[in-house]
Amino acid sequence: MALDLQPVLQRMDADFESALQRLCALLRIPSISTDGAYRAETRRAAQLLTNDLASLGFAARIHETDLHPMVMAHHRGPESDSACHILYYGHYDVQPPDPIELWDSGPFEPAIVDGPHGRRLVARGAVDDKGQLMTFIEAFRAWIKVHGTLPVKVTVLLEGEEESGSPSLDPFLETHADELAADVCLISDTGMWDIDTPAVTYMLRGLVYAEVTLAGPSHDLHSGMYGGAVVNPANELLRILSALKDDRGIVQIPGFYDDVRELSEAEASQWAALGFDEAAFLGGAGLKTPTGEAGRSTLSRLWSRPTCDINGIWAGYTGDGAKTVIPARASAKLSCRLVPDQDPSKVFEGLRSFLTQRTPPDCRWQITSHGASRAVRVPTDSAYLQAACRGLESVFDRTPVLMGCGGTIPAVGSIQRILGFDSLLVGFGLDDDRVHSPNEKFELTCFRLGMKSHAAILSELARLQTTARPAGRAAPAASR
Ligand code: BES
Ligand code: MN
Ligand code: MN
Repeated sequence: MALDLQPVLQRMDADFESALQRLCALLRIPSISTDGAYRAETRRAAQLLTNDLASLGFAARIHETDLHPMVMAHHRGPESDSACHILYYGHYDVQPPDPIELWDSGPFEPAIVDGPHGRRLVARGAVDDKGQLMTFIEAFRAWIKVHGTLPVKVTVLLEGEEESGSPSLDPFLETHADELAADVCLISDTGMWDIDTPAVTYMLRGLVYAEVTLAGPSHDLHSGMYGGAVVNPANELLRILSALKDDRGIVQIPGFYDDVRELSEAEASQWAALGFDEAAFLGGAGLKTPTGEAGRSTLSRLWSRPTCDINGIWAGYTGDGAKTVIPARASAKLSCRLVPDQDPSKVFEGLRSFLTQRTPPDCRWQITSHGASRAVRVPTDSAYLQAACRGLESVFDRTPVLMGCGGTIPAVGSIQRILGFDSLLVGFGLDDDRVHSPNEKFELTCFRLGMKSHAAILSELARLQTTARPAGRAAPAASR
């Protein structure tokens, strides 16, 4: 028997202000996973979510890891053997709020302010990913309040290390593969095409992140006594990093493009037909001029081409006034975004040899990795994806766009590889949400439509059990 969606959607409208308050309570917890000082706070966010899921009737508990805890919760759904089983994944950790002085209000004091699309919620984690993971939790809440149950079997996995590269995720998936078995994973941690148009993301870039230090003199030197006659690691680091890309924007790391495939004609024309508004994209970042690998469109630069960027750089004296000094060392944080078929360890080793081949006399490198993950693609022809699209279309009254994404979610590749099933990336962020930046925001209209979309997707997934439920899934590491 199909359960009715309409009363669920109405319930979400009626409960919207309290949903907002629940999200604000989560946003007030500074669960910054990359900073050891926030370990207890990060756990507090996990505990709040565990309690919330338990209050909805989930069997929910915290699982310890070497770093931040995992929240895992199960709902048995309609107790029919033919119901499909969905794993929902999200992350409750957030990026550090720095630079803190650029926020208009406290990063962990959620503020509701007016904008061109109505009210918006400003806080660290508003869209990445607390606001988005609450879209499916609120959909569960409404379904359970109205119908007493969920229409499919649900497992929830919320991690607290995504912004730190998910170091505990692979071992956790390996030891809990049985308990995490499902037909498909549903993730809300990406964006929409625009404020009116929902999207399903079918590719994510991968990431290699390195921290490099070039060390030279034994200590900082007076720049008058030594300058011009000795090696300056800051000058040298800049010279070497400048050579990472040539003047056509081509990355010079040996072998970097070896495994990169050209986009198919079909995909290229599909993307061209999307009508990407490049001026609006650049304008949203205060820019006008498209930049990057020569001869490529902005969308292909973002979605289908790898790149390499300096994410941070420091050396010598950076305080007030002048201090004449030749720094003993200079450092940078570097990230490479990868596309399908690139091997992260090969790229990391290529970067290492690029740097070491250019080591100036009397200098040495320290090179450390802060994680690596492969790019992923998910199939666009699955019955699950079609069900998600029908759900989105019913709420937005618009055909969803299939899109790529320049960002990285390590869990998608890990779930594919270790649990043996694919993910559906259905996100509700916008390009101008200032993800990872000061004044991160989530449009309340995106929050509301996100919740409703999840409710509608649940009812579409429930239909799969009686009609075209896909037969089986790829063999997981462990079967149950
Ligand atoms: N939610 C983002 C990924 C993302 C970014 C999706 C932009 C859509 C648009 C995720 O939380 C994230 O920030 N990932 C990191 C990788 C991680 C290993 C630190 C990223 O892409 O930098
Ligand atoms: Mn995220
Ligand atoms: Mn993020």
